[in-house]
Amino acid sequence: MNVKTIAVIGAGTMGRGIAYAAAFGGYATVLEDISRPRLEQAVSWIRKAFEEGVARGKVETAVSDKALALISTASNVEDAIREADLIIEAVPEELEMKLELFTIFDKFAKTGAIFASNTSSLSITDFTDVTVSRDRCVGMHFFNPVPKMKLIELVRTPHTSDETVATCQEVARRMGKEVVLVNEAPGFITTRINALIGNEAFHMLEAGIASARDIDKALKLGLNHPMGPFELVDLVGLDVRLNILDYLHRTLGEKYRPNSLLRRYVQEGRLGRKTGRGVYNYPEENAAEEKAWPYEAGKNAR
Ligand SMILES: NC(=O)c1ccc[n+]([C@@H]2O[C@H](COP(=O)([O-])OP(=O)(O)OC[C@H]3O[C@@H](n4cnc5c(N)ncnc54)[C@H](O)[C@@H]3O)[C@@H](O)[C@H]2O)c1
Repeated sequence: MNVKTIAVIGAGTMGRGIAYAAAFGGYATVLEDISRPRLEQAVSWIRKAFEEGVARGKVETAVSDKALALISTASNVEDAIREADLIIEAVPEELEMKLELFTIFDKFAKTGAIFASNTSSLSITDFTDVTVSRDRCVGMHFFNPVPKMKLIELVRTPHTSDETVATCQEVARRMGKEVVLVNEAPGFITTRINALIGNEAFHMLEAGIASARDIDKALKLGLNHPMGPFELVDLVGLDVRLNILDYLHRTLGEKYRPNSLLRRYVQEGRLGRKTGRGVYNYPEENAAEEKAWPYEAGKNAR
């Protein structure tokens, strides 16, 4: 299928990045969010991300100008998806919400449109089995921050057609991304492995085996991870990580049982950079700032 227009539903951390990537790939891009302020913030974030990309020499000025002209917004889902060949949802990780959206996609999207979810853990069939277009449903798992991160996990269900997979692979290529193909399973590849590493790091911290700083340092310098597990969980959000572990624990079993220290931090409101405190503390002025291009891991942690 020849994709010309991409609709992105949900303009939060991921949706705005996906819209950036879609416009970068030369697609007419329609962005929608239930919250008008979030939508406006997303558009200015995208503009800034392109400016930063140009300033860093990652994006050519002509590409940036063309991409920015390809972005528009819509004030409701039906309008956003009407002309779209590919719809990517990036609303919060709640099954009911995704279920509701896929029902709307099925009703209002144009014939032949592909429905993709950016879920980071849920089984795609849990919310796509409601649609009559199951062969055109797929997972497209992007990574944060999208402008910088190269990977998309392309998750195919038992019903996803080869044509849908091929179309998404081509879209990913034009977005400048690399694809790995995964048969649907909770947590795919990355979320599943990362959840275990992060949980184990909390077990070690709780047992007093090493400090958070030294655990992070060990994984960076000894195992060549670009960020330590605590730096990463502070970026992702401890609540997000806990939800994922709870889900993997329910679906995949005991080895994913969330660590109790992680649960306690979440109960105490230590959610990571977004609340100014997670495993580490962050100066207030930096807590809300999220950059589209390379951040320096843990730089602000003290
Ligand atoms: N944050 C990450 O690092 C990350 C990485 C990969 C995948 N994901 C996945 O991406 C999805 C979105 O995560 P996020 O971090 O961007 O969340 P977010 O909370 O930053 O953004 C979600 C956005 O969706 C909007 N929204 C809520 N209901 C809506 C609706 N019915 N219609 C339109 N917009 C609606 C919200 O207003 C918000 O702006 C989740 O499924 C998450 O698991 C997140």
